[in-house]
Amino acid sequence: MKIMHIAGARPNFMKVAPVMQALADCGSPLEQVLVHTGQHYDFEMSQVFFEDLGMPTPDEYLQVGSGSHAEQTGKIMIAFEPVLLRRKPDWVVVVGDVNSTVACALVCAKLNVRVAHVEAGLRSGDREMPEEINRLLTDQLADLLFTPSQDGDANLLREGIAPEKIHFVGNVMIDSLVKMLPAAALRTVLSDLGLEKKSYILVTLHRPSNVDNPEVLARILSALSELALRQPVLFPVHPRTRLRMQEFGLEAPGVRFLDPLGYLDFLALTQAADIVMTDSGGIQEETTFLGVPCLTLRANTERPITLELGTNRLVPSEKQAILEAAAHTRQGEPGARQIPPLWDGRAAARIAEVLLRNP
Ligand code: UD1
Repeated sequence: MKIMHIAGARPNFMKVAPVMQALADCGSPLEQVLVHTGQHYDFEMSQVFFEDLGMPTPDEYLQVGSGSHAEQTGKIMIAFEPVLLRRKPDWVVVVGDVNSTVACALVCAKLNVRVAHVEAGLRSGDREMPEEINRLLTDQLADLLFTPSQDGDANLLREGIAPEKIHFVGNVMIDSLVKMLPAAALRTVLSDLGLEKKSYILVTLHRPSNVDNPEVLARILSALSELALRQPVLFPVHPRTRLRMQEFGLEAPGVRFLDPLGYLDFLALTQAADIVMTDSGGIQEETTFLGVPCLTLRANTERPITLELGTNRLVPSEKQAILEAAAHTRQGEPGARQIPPLWDGRAAARIAEVLLRNP
């Protein structure tokens, strides 16, 4: 049996790593092939994750790089098709919701190669998010759908997906987190930055809805500057956000900007943060697992379980709303603190088991 894995962008790597490992550990004779589309290509956005997560060097690197949605998705499809034809896998595993996910799933569907989608069924209900389109289409194309939470199963059933294709397995991102916590605990990033545990706000922002509009970005940065008057505000900046800040001529006095961080350093900083402020999908889940308060600067989330059971809260991208939410969080506003079902470090093993049952 030959299984091909697709990785393209930063949030993919910590999902692919545990699935490859679980398949390698299962003892069955199988061949695994790793394809990196090159959607993300900077060292800090890609290579450092391979090193931190102990991932093998990709067997195929498609070098597609950045571009508009159509350009990037099209380039991935064109570059991936010959690789798929040459390698002839029995299954292609795609993860998450980035352009590489939908592009490769579509190529597979057209060539009748079976696709498994890891992190299926998540829905924000917001079609202005490019990721929502990627999720909807990938789930329609997939032959096996692995959901991280049961709201995913309900969404898929409502969209007419056959129940026998859907498997609730838990969250593979949490597999990586559980495995890597001991290594993260050895990092010196906190002391290198001169930070005390639970003293600082950790920020990540890169969604077009927050960073592509100068007024919205200016409002958020102004809130961060004000928060930085009373506690350190640490902001590892995504390349997209850095580009926009330069373009719009925006600054945030007092905020400590850093280059994007690797997996282990970021995990160490998340675990020790007083508050995390983000618009990422995965970080909403990681903070829920770690019990760290998370303020998500978005109008909606495809991960409602982090609101229901976890530490996550949606906050509008408005200055006053951000300042108030941070103040409430500091006062220890009571919140639910439960780890969602099957976020137990064993999701990838469940995925491997299902794949092996379907040779
Ligand atoms: C992509 C994903 C998003 C995910 C995010 C995590 C899609 C539609 N979006 O968004 O779901 O949350 O990754 O990071 O797939 N750039 C670099 N170096 C890189 C990569 C990008 O400088 O290694 C810059 C380029 O200027 C590029 C911009 O960042 O144009 C945006 O990159 P892109 O891959 O288009 O989307 P992301 O915003 O990273």
